[in-house]
Amino acid sequence: MDRAEKIAIMVASGLLGLFFLALLAAAKLQGIQVPPCLPPAVRPFSEGRIDTLPDGRRQLFYVARMWRFEPEIVEVPIGKPIDIFLSAADVTHGLYVSWTNTNLMAIPGSVNAYTFKLEKPGIYPIICHEYCGSAHQNMVAYLIAK
Ligand code: CUA
Repeated sequence: MDRAEKIAIMVASGLLGLFFLALLAAAKLQGIQVPPCLPPAVRPFSEGRIDTLPDGRRQLFYVARMWRFEPEIVEVPIGKPIDIFLSAADVTHGLYVSWTNTNLMAIPGSVNAYTFKLEKPGIYPIICHEYCGSAHQNMVAYLIAK
């Protein structure tokens, strides 16, 4: 093997390691986490609901269906963890909480989950980001952070 080739491979390998470390550092600094495995007790559900745990933590069970989210309007406390569980009743939808990095797919027959916090008061529209039919653009719900 030519000496220049060896140097190019070493430089490329070093850069690959550097980029991987940069990726890990960025994920750590921004608090990005891989969604956890769900406990087996969480099964696909067909009706939206809101649970409040004894410590005040909110658990929002969203069902996406043509062309709305259930529940549609939810008040949540500022600065406390919010658990979202998401399922779909008909076709594949998406759930994006505006101005956050909360972005999930709603897939019939499965449940996706994510935990996040809202740090500022306000109204956060939740929109469907996956084309799901003729009224897709009307599919919106709201989180009201107080
Ligand atoms: Cu639901 Cu687009």
